[in-house]
Amino acid sequence: MQGFIFKDFLEFANKRLGNAVVDQAVAQCQLQSRGVYSTRQQYSPQELVTLLGEISRQTGHSTSELLQTYGQWLFKTLVNLPLPQSEFDDSFGFLAAVEEGFHKEIRELFPQANLPRLHCERLGPHEMTFEYQSPLGLADLAEGLLQGCFLHFEEQVSISRESLGAGGTHVRFHLKRS
Ligand code: HEM
Repeated sequence: MQGFIFKDFLEFANKRLGNAVVDQAVAQCQLQSRGVYSTRQQYSPQELVTLLGEISRQTGHSTSELLQTYGQWLFKTLVNLPLPQSEFDDSFGFLAAVEEGFHKEIRELFPQANLPRLHCERLGPHEMTFEYQSPLGLADLAEGLLQGCFLHFEEQVSISRESLGAGGTHVRFHLKRS
């Protein structure tokens, strides 16, 4: 997983939960990176899981809750990047472009990147399914990113989740816009 994500996650945790929590979690976890990340380098995704577990223990927030809240934050970080395809009318148009647009580009630039397999199916103008599949099991992060996307486009969309695999590795989200 890219240092970019770790740096952004630590920024989120410092801002939302406080420096003391983050400093203590980093010290406690004895991470291989020692909590120092450079943007373009790859680090073990396990470090994120370890950090999340320790932050959850310290704060009482579940890891699922932390990942979803972080997903909302990460969406803002991602849309503020100077992306080539930044013109979208609505969230569904944006989501349909993630796999073959944004993530494809990341794969080409960084062949080692850890990216999920995403598949969208449009069921009507206000209904869509969005499938997430990844051995990293970060379906909660994906759900937070979806929430961030709907907040960004100022749309009311209900999200329900159908589990297709163990440990958040394969999930189909049913999205209904009102
Ligand atoms: C709502 C839309 C999006 C969803 C649901 C989504 C989902 C995810 C998830 C869940 C991961 C974690 C890796 C995994 O689970 O296997 C990830 C990684 C990543 N995504 Fe997305 N993503 C979205 C939009 C974007 C956009 C717009 C960009 C912009 C370029 C982007 C760039 C990345 C990058 C750089 C990584 C990390 C790759 C690595 O660390 O190796 N994503 N994405």
